[in-house]
Amino acid sequence: MPIIQGFSRLAREITGNKRDTSNSHSDTTTYNSSIRPDYSSGLAGVNLELDLKLSTWLVSSICAVLFVVLAMRAFHLFTAYTRQIHSMQSSSLEQNYWTYDRTWWLPWLKREFIYAPLGNKRHNREWQLSQAVNYGTLPGRAHTILLTLYVLSNIVYCTLLPYGKQEAAKTIAELRGRAGVLAVVNMIPLVLLAGRNNPLIKLLRISFDNFNLFHRWIGRIVILESIVHVCAWYANYSARHGVDKSLNSFSGNIFLTSGLVAVLGMIFLLFQSLSALRHAFYETFLHGHQIMAFVVLGGVYIHLDVEKLPALPYMNMVVGGWIVERILRLVWILWLNIGYKRRETTKVIIEALPGEACRVTFQLPRHTIIRPGSHVYAYLPKFSWWMSHPFSVAWTNPESEPPTGPLVADRDENSEGSSLLNKETLDHAIVEEGLVSAALKSPNYLEREADYSSLITKRKIPPTSLSLICAARTGMTRKIYEAAMQAPARTIFTSGFIEGAYAGHDNLASYGTVVMFAGGAGITHHLVQIRHLLACAHARTVATRKIVLVWSVRDLEALSWVAPWMDEILKMPGRREMLTMHLFVTKARGPADYVSPSRSIELKGARCQPGVILDKVLRRAPSEGGRVGACFVSVCGPGALADEVRKAVRERIWVGALEMNEESFTW
Ligand SMILES: Cc1cc2nc3c(=O)[nH]c(=O)nc-3n(C[C@H](O)[C@H](O)[C@H](O)COP(=O)(O)OP(=O)(O)OC[C@H]3O[C@@H](n4cnc5c(N)ncnc54)[C@H](O)[C@@H]3O)c2cc1C
Ligand SMILES: NC(=O)c1ccc[n+]([C@@H]2O[C@H](COP(=O)([O-])OP(=O)(O)OC[C@H]3O[C@@H](n4cnc5c(N)ncnc54)[C@H](OP(=O)(O)O)[C@@H]3O)[C@@H](O)[C@H]2O)c1
Repeated sequence: MPIIQGFSRLAREITGNKRDTSNSHSDTTTYNSSIRPDYSSGLAGVNLELDLKLSTWLVSSICAVLFVVLAMRAFHLFTAYTRQIHSMQSSSLEQNYWTYDRTWWLPWLKREFIYAPLGNKRHNREWQLSQAVNYGTLPGRAHTILLTLYVLSNIVYCTLLPYGKQEAAKTIAELRGRAGVLAVVNMIPLVLLAGRNNPLIKLLRISFDNFNLFHRWIGRIVILESIVHVCAWYANYSARHGVDKSLNSFSGNIFLTSGLVAVLGMIFLLFQSLSALRHAFYETFLHGHQIMAFVVLGGVYIHLDVEKLPALPYMNMVVGGWIVERILRLVWILWLNIGYKRRETTKVIIEALPGEACRVTFQLPRHTIIRPGSHVYAYLPKFSWWMSHPFSVAWTNPESEPPTGPLVADRDENSEGSSLLNKETLDHAIVEEGLVSAALKSPNYLEREADYSSLITKRKIPPTSLSLICAARTGMTRKIYEAAMQAPARTIFTSGFIEGAYAGHDNLASYGTVVMFAGGAGITHHLVQIRHLLACAHARTVATRKIVLVWSVRDLEALSWVAPWMDEILKMPGRREMLTMHLFVTKARGPADYVSPSRSIELKGARCQPGVILDKVLRRAPSEGGRVGACFVSVCGPGALADEVRKAVRERIWVGALEMNEESFTW
């Protein structure tokens, strides 16, 4: 209110009306209306032509940035494709050409812009006051530059007014129109970027996490512009009609009431989505956010529709986009989870695992392809009603993987997998718990792959089965863990749905070397990627010749989360030559050091140092077990680990052609 009153006073002063309008508003009304046009309603004083021009500039600047990113992505994909075609049948040495970036500017751009945190190192490590209060993360350098430019352009567009060249009330009316139109135009990217099905994710291969950051900032801009819009209206209205009449003007006026409801809703959203509140009560936040977003969109729509204002077409796009996205999601969920012939629905098995986690297996009634590195949204109505939670797909039946090429069924019988699993410490974690594992009972990868070929020829592809590892936090994940712990054999059979799979757009096929860092439950992002790369490498359809998996866990129990799948991976042909694993156990209760006979699996009771690992890979020749061709570094896990990996990659960006992806989760 003080801001509004300040605005009102300012307006009265500039309109020359120095009298106290709150006491004698009727006099003021007569006084003002007799000599001046009413700039407080309709389009009087609004510079529609310039508003339209600036809106076009705003949209064009967004399109220009998207075009630049698209061009960079096209260049990147073209290089990757050429590299893959050249390298997939080549030996390690023949990939030498790709070991270095051939330009000076590309590594510079990656180091200083694309992968750079805002300052030195901190990016995805959360700002925390305590373990419970999370203030969010710091945007990267590229994000900050783009966001700053975006905020500045909005400020410039809003303040581009003919100061002193016309009556002040008219200028304020122009500001009202400008801020209102820009707020509505900004709602287009706001709603588009909030959607899981935002087409830009696929087109630009940029993660939802990045778009979510822009969604949050554009949301703040929309709210500020809407507040400016209301204040500018109030300044002119109260100057002309008096304060009392201004406050009463809403009753029975659908145009004003709908606008007011929308702005109040926005202010609620602004405070409700503060990072600390959002993270502490995420599901409450999400419910409140969605309901209030619906109210806001409805309010703005009615506000524009009642007076058929020129911004209405923009609003139609916003509402249309929102409805289409919701319908697409619903149709996709129904299609995926309900079989059309026998009306089967998705079955779910939840198994409690040692180390406070669950393996959740979804048996779908249909077949769908799940790209390696994807995530799905899991719906478990018995535990969380209609809420959905994102989880990386940790494992699928191989029939649901994209084609790898013909496989030669020469399983590595001398695999070190069994030795890793039979190690005393792990025996305790895995065998003594005596858990029923659907995956353990299922036939192994190669046997299923052989079946698959025959099924394809018979056109009978089995339905998709996918598994998630859900580490128990405090909400739904804790509920399912506790329920499974109480159930017979620590296993629950229930029903549920999945939505997705989303993302999985990292194509690792063109890199001779792939280094994967995982922290805790972050291992789920990498498992299917490793299986897919090993299978493709064996079929000679990818450039990858070397995979290094670095997995840091707090205790040994966590290794049992993925033991059956790791065992399958370790038995895959070519695994010994390609895959080395470094396991770090940071809070081991006993000695945790172990090295396999071929030294391809190492277990250490220490914290992982990404720089040391990267040096081992990057600074050695292929013959000494070092890097082959171009190198891709991927990280999924706690923000602090991701920051450490980012720093290590940036410090070594000149050592060779090096690219990275961080599977982050900051929303
Ligand atoms: C792409 C992606 C993949 C993920 N993969 C895995 C995985 O493989 N294994 C794993 O253990 N965890 C994974 N997570 C994290 C997982 O989604 C959360 O741990 C889980 O949703 C927490 O649920 P909860 O109710 O127990 O959370 P709470 O304990 O209530 O909240 C903990 C935090 O989880 C997040 N969260 C809570 N509910 C939701 C929701 N409905 N949607 C989105 N985020 C939410 C919030 O940031 C919240 O602060 C992934 C997250 C993302 C974004
Ligand atoms: N697709 C996705 O986006 C996706 C998928 C799965 C999981 N996740 C996210 O990944 C995170 C995993 O959390 P978690 O609780 O399972 O992991 P965690 O137990 O907190 O940490 C796992 C390991 O990482 C180590 N670590 C942390 N910071 C490090 C650093 N700076 N340098 C070296 N090692 C470090 C820890 O060592 P210390 O014990 O020494 O700290 C620990 O051994 C969650 O935030 C989850 O949401 C995301």
